[in-house]
Amino acid sequence: MMNSTALASLSRAARVRLLSGRGLWHTAAVPELGVESIMLSDGPHGLRKQENAGDHLGIAPSVPATCYPPAATLACSWDVELLAEVGAAIGREARQQGISVVLGPGLNIKRHPNCGRNFEYFSEDPLLAGELAAAMVRGIQAQGVAACLKHYAVNNQESHRLVVDAVVDERSLREIYLRGFEIAVARSNPWTVMAAYNRVNGEYCTDSPRLLTTILRDEWGFTGLVMSDWTATNDRVAGVRAGMDLEMPSSGGAFDAAVLAALASGELCDEQVNACGQRVLDLVARTKRGRDEVVALPEEAAFYHAVARRAAAESAVLLTNDGTLPLQASASIAVIGAFAETPRYQGAGSSQVNPTRLDTALDALRARLGAEVKLDYRCGYDPVLSPVDEAEIAAAVAAAGVAETVLLFAGLPAAYESEGFDREHMRLPEQQERLIAAVCAANPRTVVVLANGAPVEMPWVDAPAAILEAYLGGQATGAAVVDVLFGDVEPSGRLAETFPVCQADVPSDPYFPGEPRQVQYREGLFVGYRYYDSAGVAVRFPFGHGLGYTSFAYGALRLAAESIALGEDVEVRVAITNTGVRAGAEVVQVYVRRPGTRIVRPEKELRGFAKVRLAAGESTEVAVSLGGRAFAHYDVARRGWEVEAGAFEILVGSSAESIHATATIVVGVAAAAEEVAGEVAGPDPWAPDDDRFAARLGRPIPAPDPAHPFHRNSTFGDLGATRAGRRLQAIILRAARSQTAKMADGNLALQKMFDRATLEAPLRSAAQVSGGKISLAMVDAVIDMLNGDWGRALRRVATRTRRESR
Ligand code: BGC
Repeated sequence: MMNSTALASLSRAARVRLLSGRGLWHTAAVPELGVESIMLSDGPHGLRKQENAGDHLGIAPSVPATCYPPAATLACSWDVELLAEVGAAIGREARQQGISVVLGPGLNIKRHPNCGRNFEYFSEDPLLAGELAAAMVRGIQAQGVAACLKHYAVNNQESHRLVVDAVVDERSLREIYLRGFEIAVARSNPWTVMAAYNRVNGEYCTDSPRLLTTILRDEWGFTGLVMSDWTATNDRVAGVRAGMDLEMPSSGGAFDAAVLAALASGELCDEQVNACGQRVLDLVARTKRGRDEVVALPEEAAFYHAVARRAAAESAVLLTNDGTLPLQASASIAVIGAFAETPRYQGAGSSQVNPTRLDTALDALRARLGAEVKLDYRCGYDPVLSPVDEAEIAAAVAAAGVAETVLLFAGLPAAYESEGFDREHMRLPEQQERLIAAVCAANPRTVVVLANGAPVEMPWVDAPAAILEAYLGGQATGAAVVDVLFGDVEPSGRLAETFPVCQADVPSDPYFPGEPRQVQYREGLFVGYRYYDSAGVAVRFPFGHGLGYTSFAYGALRLAAESIALGEDVEVRVAITNTGVRAGAEVVQVYVRRPGTRIVRPEKELRGFAKVRLAAGESTEVAVSLGGRAFAHYDVARRGWEVEAGAFEILVGSSAESIHATATIVVGVAAAAEEVAGEVAGPDPWAPDDDRFAARLGRPIPAPDPAHPFHRNSTFGDLGATRAGRRLQAIILRAARSQTAKMADGNLALQKMFDRATLEAPLRSAAQVSGGKISLAMVDAVIDMLNGDWGRALRRVATRTRRESR
């Protein structure tokens, strides 16, 4: 690492310049110190290196790279080794492409299945998300390439992500929304973290000393660099003070004057600027090995493609099966569904990879079945939007009726889920629902294969003979699905999120996505299975669920001790036997429950897991270690993790609903009499009224901050509130539309993302994306004019003209 004297030798202006990137994807070089500029690139499941025209929305083309399955899919593997392997492959490709920082993984909690970006996130559970993210980070960084945990923090929706304030109570923040990041920091030492777009409890993440320094660095020991999400910087002076080291991308120096002025006035001191700058230099130094060392083979695309294929196959979740799978030889197969030919394999937005190749299920099936088997393909629906089309259904039914077996490929069209907007509902397109019903009626030996980045409602769940949830499988998805359908690979994926029966059952549904400027996290701790379990609400498929082609038996549970002291670890051991005739893998899940708790807490929580592979008839003893935190809750009053001493139940199972072995352990006997602090258990803690929610927040429920009179964080959409605003808005929207329509080129998801991005962008972003052409002072002047304060506007313009003519 470069010593801090070197940095101190630079002028103030040079040090301030270092705190912003160069262009969209680079850090600034410091020629005086011989420090090179390094390249950052998306994204979580493959690289999106843009060489020429760039953007942060996944529009302009990028250099071909392997498209691995996105996080939502990989998470279903529950396999830390696999995640590390994918991370290593991405890291290696990054080195080959000269990239020093991979912008991922993303590990935000799936608070609601309709978050448009859930495909980029791992789980509704922070332990699972944190462990998997950590494994991926370890894999990437072992290559000498930095990973970037994102989006820190509480970025659980796309709607109004640039201005929305997530109002969340401290305990839920700590136990649910920060916990995954905390685990990942502790277990993988990430070199960078990305501060999210949104606000948390009134403060922009990019301005927050509490999130970026007190919690991240002081409490968790993070030693790396914090960068902003792209254009997420709100107030650069506040950001420097908070420890937000690097503004990305470059805003053309939009904030430099303010930082220099703050230094001059003493509002900021040189040490604060230097601390941020030093972390930029340290990052360049840390990633040097990745740039300098010659990459060892294998470098061929085929190697990476094979990793992607295995990852997709190992992550697919067999939801139901009446024995039709694995497929046996059959004389005729009808393949229905456009996704068999035009796969849906990744989500839209900044994570979109330009794949090196793309396997379709149709090709893979033809190759697997050979010429003797009659394969009849019908598209069944239009893959872009799936409008209702009776003729396609009739054609599919006719083909299904005469085939021995039907493989029906369904799922969400790309325009349904994307970065930049949330899903409107949890259903499949009506055409596909009708198609499934009609085809299953025509042929009960129908296997449905789903391609989607998040749960869908399945009112048709009982109709197919089997359902394989392939999620979004990356570029090898077609071949991977066929591997699983035929049993060449055992299905060993388990859901990393609950599939509720319907959207109305989702605990955050009444509060999601909230108002444009505020979202209340009233359901508190009760996210995903923590709610369904506690409230006794039946689900379609529980968290952790997944079938295989073999079966497993669980023996009794053995604990290393019957009682432990507070903070002590305990090892949980359970014997597992593969009782079937095929090799397979089981995901052993360890939950902890506190019977008779006096405080609000979920019925049970995942505290450990292990994936074990066993040959037919083989047995083994699986050991999972539970650390002291496994029994702790966050005590808001004491500002720390505490244990409600007494008896805890350890439950070992194959899903949140299928528990096969339990045991009791007493934790902290000596302290048992101590009072436990926290919200006392009461009715429906997932739906508090205003008073109870305010009590949980420890303050009155804040009113959403007004967008008018306009200010820097009013959005272009908000301009509609006044006549003058509407005029300007119309001009801007027209200009944006004509630009973006060309770029989107008929791609509906992209166009929708553009439209939303334009309307939901704060006014300050006009300066941030202008490359220095529009200053923040100009934005402020326009805001004054729109607010009718012409005097102030003119004064600003005059000051600026004076300064420029000097
Ligand atoms: C996304 C980030 C991404 C960045 C750069 C933003 O829009 O939220 O996840 O890394 O763009 O493309």
